[in-house]
Amino acid sequence: MQKFTIIGGNRLSGEMFLQGSKNSALPIMAAAMLTDGQCVLKNCPALTDVYSASRILNCLGCKCHFSSNCAVIDASGADRGEIPENLMREMRSSIMFMGAILGRIGECIVSVPGGCELGPRPIDMHLAALSRMGAEIFDCGGRIRCRIPSERAKGARISLSFPSVGATENIILCAVKAEGETIIHNAAREPEICDLCGFLRACGANIKGDGESSIIINGVTRLNGCEYTIMPDRIAGATYLAMTAAAGGEIILKNTCTAEMEPFISVLEHTGCGIYTSDNKIYLRRGQRLKAVRDRIRTMPHPGFPTDAQAILMAALVTADGTSVFEENIFDCRYRHTDALIKMGADIQVMGKAAVVRGVPKLHGADVEATDLRGGAAMAVAALAADGVTHLGGISHIDRGYEKFEEAVVSLGGNIRRE
Ligand code: EPU
Repeated sequence: MQKFTIIGGNRLSGEMFLQGSKNSALPIMAAAMLTDGQCVLKNCPALTDVYSASRILNCLGCKCHFSSNCAVIDASGADRGEIPENLMREMRSSIMFMGAILGRIGECIVSVPGGCELGPRPIDMHLAALSRMGAEIFDCGGRIRCRIPSERAKGARISLSFPSVGATENIILCAVKAEGETIIHNAAREPEICDLCGFLRACGANIKGDGESSIIINGVTRLNGCEYTIMPDRIAGATYLAMTAAAGGEIILKNTCTAEMEPFISVLEHTGCGIYTSDNKIYLRRGQRLKAVRDRIRTMPHPGFPTDAQAILMAALVTADGTSVFEENIFDCRYRHTDALIKMGADIQVMGKAAVVRGVPKLHGADVEATDLRGGAAMAVAALAADGVTHLGGISHIDRGYEKFEEAVVSLGGNIRRE
């Protein structure tokens, strides 16, 4: 098992190009299955989750090649609808293939997806929505079999009880080639939904309202291939900003999505960092010790503060001057990183949804283990700001979402080694 050895204390300084978004690339790769031509996806991040999506596409009869941050997908041979259990378990986004397979061949066999353990992650909303669109769903020896009895799925009005990102994406994927109109009420408004819709529109889909609470999709009979550039990864961007804020120094992030990162940046500004943004660049400078954030940091669906940035910001605020309070409202179990931060000297009290972080002057290195993607990244952020050596295990979690993580950190002057 690989681990990172991190020696903290270096100030960070440098420029970096932000990677493409994992959470955009994965549903867009699934969407490519719906097309008849060739899709060329640029700015696609080189991540283990992207390689898993590529394996799933190949297993469904598509041809997917990945090199130099470009995925080329030819779905003309897509004729299979079964995803083996081991591939389903590799990541949460494997469930997104359900809507795409139904849209393409009308029948799929999948199982409950894997992904980070952040508490229960049911797929009831996905299944209920697909069933409203005409899908019949069976439990098939622990696997889920889903089939559309008619030639095409049927458009439907669907109201989500919570704006689930994955359920919204699955409905869109099933609806773009369905018969008639689908309206999703209380849809997720995350930028990655807009990126998926942008890709599908470039392929000829008829979708309106993405980025708002109601999305209207009119089914078409055919989608063509296209060339598309995946949006930058707002959470990877938040990670490198928080890292520089924690360790001190300055960073210029290039190729960013400034507007989409605003919910994170507007909170980070309260810590006293100097932050300047232009179209696609963000400059951050941290001179003095960070200040705690006075207002409660509540994770909410977009455009609220992103749950994916909660652990990462906490890793910076553990050494801020004063007390910050987090409230996690999206996942039941997303404070698993706090034990590691406490082992490194942080003062954190978790009480249900809330975590009270009393800033300490300094952290120290420790032997810690990542248990999920963003929690693992948070431990690396804390280790880079700490005194001494941290051995960070479980880094396969980090490799799922951060492209060449250690190279990026070294380019900023951080001391990190993969062993
Ligand atoms: N939920 C249900 N039933 C469902 C679907 C969701 O109860 O059928 C609940 C979940 O249990 C959770 C909440 O709704 O409590 C939100 O889940 P959502 O469906 O919005 O999340 P997701 O699609 O599983 C995506 C991202 C996550 C990110 C969340 C929230 C991908 C591949 N994953 O997950 O990203 O935290 O949206 O923004 O897009 C990460 O990148 O580290 C990551 C975990």
